[in-house]
Amino acid sequence: MIILGIESSCDETAVAIVNSERKILSNQIYSQIKEHKEFGGVVPEVAARSHIECLPYLFQKSLQESSLTYSDLDGIAVTAGPGLIGGVMVGVIFAKTVASILKKPFIAVNHLEGHALTVRLTDKIEFPYLLLLASGGHCQFLLVEGINQYKQISTTVDDAAGEAFDKVAKMLNLDYPGGPAIEKLALKGNPKAFQFPKPLCEANRYDLSFSGLKTAVRQLIEKNDIEHIKNDICASFQDTVAEIFLYKINQAIEIINRDSPKKVNSFVIAGGVAANKYIREKISEFLINHGYNFIAPPIHLCTDNAAMIAWAGLELFTDWPYQ
Ligand code: KG4
Ligand code: ZN
Repeated sequence: MIILGIESSCDETAVAIVNSERKILSNQIYSQIKEHKEFGGVVPEVAARSHIECLPYLFQKSLQESSLTYSDLDGIAVTAGPGLIGGVMVGVIFAKTVASILKKPFIAVNHLEGHALTVRLTDKIEFPYLLLLASGGHCQFLLVEGINQYKQISTTVDDAAGEAFDKVAKMLNLDYPGGPAIEKLALKGNPKAFQFPKPLCEANRYDLSFSGLKTAVRQLIEKNDIEHIKNDICASFQDTVAEIFLYKINQAIEIINRDSPKKVNSFVIAGGVAANKYIREKISEFLINHGYNFIAPPIHLCTDNAAMIAWAGLELFTDWPYQ
């Protein structure tokens, strides 16, 4: 089976093609970073217009890259939410048009499900697994038991982790998106230079929170001449996010061991923040020491892409009871 995937829910326009042998036949991405940079964040109107311009071109490029024709496609999958509504509408209307002209199935995919299933494309992971989904809009622990079978264990009560990276980067006058900019400066800083708070890291408080951490960084910035301590702020902030994750992973494992009848041995991290090498390494070391199998998608498939949407579409379609 060959599925075309389309992603346009935020600031990446992406088209990809995957097959049921877990091969990514094409993976086209146009990042709008340059268009949003001057505004310090994504402007929904600019994003939607850019998706309109780029999608038809990427669609053709994707077919060329995979040496396929329209008739080879078995279905058209697209992110149908959550996301910026203008971009989502562009993608959905484009996908519905292509599907109806080609008389192929249209498959609506939840963006988070795309992130959640990426490791089944790249690493053939079996269900169930425990997932930390950390992106720009979401930060939650999920027990992934099957296609369409997700149990939320905990979630952020305020900012998402990626959102905290973006906001801290903005306070430090760094480029958008904030995650990669902070990770770069953190390489030259001391991760233990500043002690930032770790909100909700206490017994019997299972949700996540990043707002207090962000405020602590703001207060430090307001009281200091930051030019000489930028690297240390980035390193300490990044380290604190990693420490919060470790604390919360421990709690999530406790909950799963208590409540899940099935043994869960695999832990997965996905979403844009999973592209952070420092965080990946800290989590990997922690989980391997605790006897867990740790899997993170390759870095280029952590941030938004259409291969994950095509793959989730393929899994959903294969699992469809009405076929
Ligand atoms: O999954 P994603 O590409 O889009 C959403 O679904 O939100 O995640 C984007 C988020 C942004 O907040 C970005 O700053 C963050 O992921 N991010 C990172 C890194 N790369 C992207 N955060 C930390 N370190 C990174 N290397
Ligand atoms: Zn995403």
